[in-house]
Amino acid sequence: LSGNAPIGVFDSGVGGLTVLAALRRALPNEDFIYLGDTARLPYGTKSAQTVLRYSLQCAQALADRGIELLVVACNTASASSIEALQCRYPQLPVIGVIEPGAQAAVAASRSQRIAVIATEGTITGGAYPAAIRRLSAAAQVTSLACSLFGAMAEEGWTCGAIAESVARRYLEPLFEGPGEVPDTLVLGCTHFPLLAGAIRSALPSSVQLVDSAQVTAAAVAQRWPPPPSARRGSVRFLATDGAARFARVGGQFLGMPIASDAVEIIDL
Ligand code: DGL
Repeated sequence: LSGNAPIGVFDSGVGGLTVLAALRRALPNEDFIYLGDTARLPYGTKSAQTVLRYSLQCAQALADRGIELLVVACNTASASSIEALQCRYPQLPVIGVIEPGAQAAVAASRSQRIAVIATEGTITGGAYPAAIRRLSAAAQVTSLACSLFGAMAEEGWTCGAIAESVARRYLEPLFEGPGEVPDTLVLGCTHFPLLAGAIRSALPSSVQLVDSAQVTAAAVAQRWPPPPSARRGSVRFLATDGAARFARVGGQFLGMPIASDAVEIIDL
């Protein structure tokens, strides 16, 4: 990174703000432009072709604003679009959340039995098992779409009895014997880190959680270390609809308040 141009980050909506929060912790001096395609979310229930089309438009909007690195902060968009984006922008480094998540899972798992939870689109496309098996041919990957978690995270139902009971309903079958059960669970959706406590409560204590947002931020900082600087980086927020909702719900995902007049609405 040169430190002279912002890092572009996009997601279907507010979920990618968990990735942005991790990126800002890892790279506090960098400027970021975050684009949430709130007019067309969710991506997780749409076909791979549609998500690819939307992702190309999001990337173009950020490329037009002079970014020097593109982070695809959405698992569903990463699953269907990362290669196409890398081809379309050969001069622009592009990183998604799936490869770093897969690497962290393979590194964390002793048994190479790995479970992945994500949106329907991410699970159906098989991008996580494919990325994990490229790194560890013997890995056994179990995948499960946990669609309710996304809505619960946006509703703020992230802990307590309801969250824990939904987590048990989804996850207990994945971690029940007979035979060896996974020792690692990948949170393969931007919304799921908000539910990490409830998810953990439904798992055997030996299971390791891999948060693809955290590991992606660490991978960016390691691969493209910025020059030293004393200044505090800025964030510019773009969305395709609903500045007030973006600010209200997005604040939970970013972990700090967002003013609705700080959100610029754009057309793609
Ligand atoms: N950002 C999406 C993901 O990580 C979740 C929300 C959606 O389905 O659009 O897969």
